[in-house]
Amino acid sequence: MTTEETHGAPQIGVLTSGGDAPGMNAAIRAVVRQSIYLGYRVRGIRRGFAGLFENRVVRLELSSVADIIKMGGTILHTARTPAMMTEEGLAQAVRALAEHQIAGLVVIGGDGSLRAAQALHERGVRVVGIPASIDNDIYGTDQAIGFDTAVNIVVEAMDRLRDTASAHERLFVVEVMGRESGAIALSAGLAGGAEAILIPEAPVDYEAIAERLHRSRARGKRHSLVVVAEGAGGAAPVADALRRLTGYEVRVTILGHLQRGGPPSAVDRILGGRLGTHAVRALAEGRSGIMVGMDAGRPVEVPLEQVAAGQRRPDLELARLAEVLAI
Ligand code: F6P
Repeated sequence: MTTEETHGAPQIGVLTSGGDAPGMNAAIRAVVRQSIYLGYRVRGIRRGFAGLFENRVVRLELSSVADIIKMGGTILHTARTPAMMTEEGLAQAVRALAEHQIAGLVVIGGDGSLRAAQALHERGVRVVGIPASIDNDIYGTDQAIGFDTAVNIVVEAMDRLRDTASAHERLFVVEVMGRESGAIALSAGLAGGAEAILIPEAPVDYEAIAERLHRSRARGKRHSLVVVAEGAGGAAPVADALRRLTGYEVRVTILGHLQRGGPPSAVDRILGGRLGTHAVRALAEGRSGIMVGMDAGRPVEVPLEQVAAGQRRPDLELARLAEVLAI
């Protein structure tokens, strides 16, 4: 094991890309520490793939990642980089990685970022991906970095909203993130005891929801919480429909980017550590074109080609369970 940069040692590059997710810093820390442990030098690329075009490549040492495990956001910053979907952009990225003598690249990000990683692999770059997205919609992993923290933030918000909802006998419609996925809505809705959960993956029956809400009020409940995924059309139309059908006083809360900030949960810190160290070991052992994900509690390697082509759908059994529990 070495603790300082060994001159001339091969270099591992690391970047975070797309929407930030709590726990990205834990993954960066793990990549840096495992790389140095194995005798590599580490380079951080700032602002995601954009940093390759802007020549924003920095040296990362053990001290660079001290105390970051508890921080949300990403110390490397991030960006969405549409140029990575063009031949020209990809060629430029390949050239920049060669110029900086990056022997292996770790890409930490969501499905778009992992598609770019696969495109780089196809062009000869040695690359390993780590799934990070609060949406938890990445194919090939049970859990992406950031999801657990986001769900906990929503549950805490629901607990607070229930107090004020009860005080006024109101119905709250809570909009949560998930552009194309109902994963946060389902898990948080279940954990927060929502009366109804609306997700893009399942049809909505407003009349059935209104009936359920009436039944629970008849039993003496003073509040109603309905969770709506952003990708299911957002809170406003749901609030209008339920106001019309129930006659209740309705309020809307859109949690938005609050769900992406703040300290990562213990689960996301541990996940970042496990995936980050595994990714570096895979590169060190000569593997490329894979994502390190989780399957049944263990890290697994999944070809990026499959990740890029697939789409993770939430477990709709959770939706049925939520209906039973909200009876
Ligand atoms: O992909 C994660 C996500 O948080 C989505 O749930 C949301 O729709 C989107 O990012 C928001 O993106 P931005 O931060 O660019 O507004």
